[in-house]
Amino acid sequence: MSIQDVADYLSGPFTEIDGWCDPYLWQVLAPLHEAQEALGVSGPVAEIGVHHGKLLIGLMKTKGSPSGNLAIDAFDLQQFNIDGSGEGSIQMLQDNLARCGYRADALRLVRADSLTLGAADVPDLRADAPEGFTFVSVDGGHEVEYALSDIRLAMALAMPEGIILVDDFFAPDWPGVTEALARLYLHDRPQFVPLLAGYNKLLLCHRSHRQGFSRTLVQYIKDHLNTRVHAKVVTLFGYRLINVEPDRSQPFEPIVQ
Ligand SMILES: C[S@@+](CC[C@H](N)C(=O)[O-])C[C@H]1O[C@@H](n2cnc3c(N)ncnc32)[C@H](O)[C@@H]1O
Repeated sequence: MSIQDVADYLSGPFTEIDGWCDPYLWQVLAPLHEAQEALGVSGPVAEIGVHHGKLLIGLMKTKGSPSGNLAIDAFDLQQFNIDGSGEGSIQMLQDNLARCGYRADALRLVRADSLTLGAADVPDLRADAPEGFTFVSVDGGHEVEYALSDIRLAMALAMPEGIILVDDFFAPDWPGVTEALARLYLHDRPQFVPLLAGYNKLLLCHRSHRQGFSRTLVQYIKDHLNTRVHAKVVTLFGYRLINVEPDRSQPFEPIVQ
């Protein structure tokens, strides 16, 4: 990551691109990116539910990933957006990519009802990222069946060192997302487990890396965010995770070690 690229994006186009994304999220995306680098992994990012690319472009900037990125959205097939969450637009997405310095082929667009995508589609969806995606955001349909299906798809798209970001966790307007996570973790034992809650998201990582990422985050919060966030270790569905609430009275600035 070029911290300057991310900072320029967050203080520039990010403020003008329509969408739903908390800039303070980069308080934890920055150290998670660094932790992935320390593990020797890099590579493209993916999102299910893109709208105009506000978060996705930020993830691309974070990973410095010029190609192989993936955007899944119903786009103009809005009859599949049954809860009316956002409205994907290929034109707006491509305009925003261009203004952020990306060529149109930086991102593969998949125009589909994500509910129809499953295990059989994974090899094709991973064709440009054979090792898997570094960050996968889930922010498509918010009804329980959609969220559950999208989270399972994200787990199949992410690399083992990858981070999955599930939007609207515990959001009262979108209880389907929380119900999907409850179904997932109370009825199953998936390989990706809760790591951090905050910024209106639940972040998941692979069991194998939970301890490593968790230690990195705890240390980073102590060293860099101590006066900037409230942080508490909590238990959810039997998994220990860090709940983070930023102090929004302080100006946001992305920090790296
Ligand atoms: C809340 S918006 C996404 C916001 C975006 N992540 C951002 O950074 O601003 C939800 C998106 O999910 C898409 N969507 C809703 N239902 C879908 C479905 N069944 N399949 C694919 N995409 C869907 C919508 O078209 C919309 O673009």
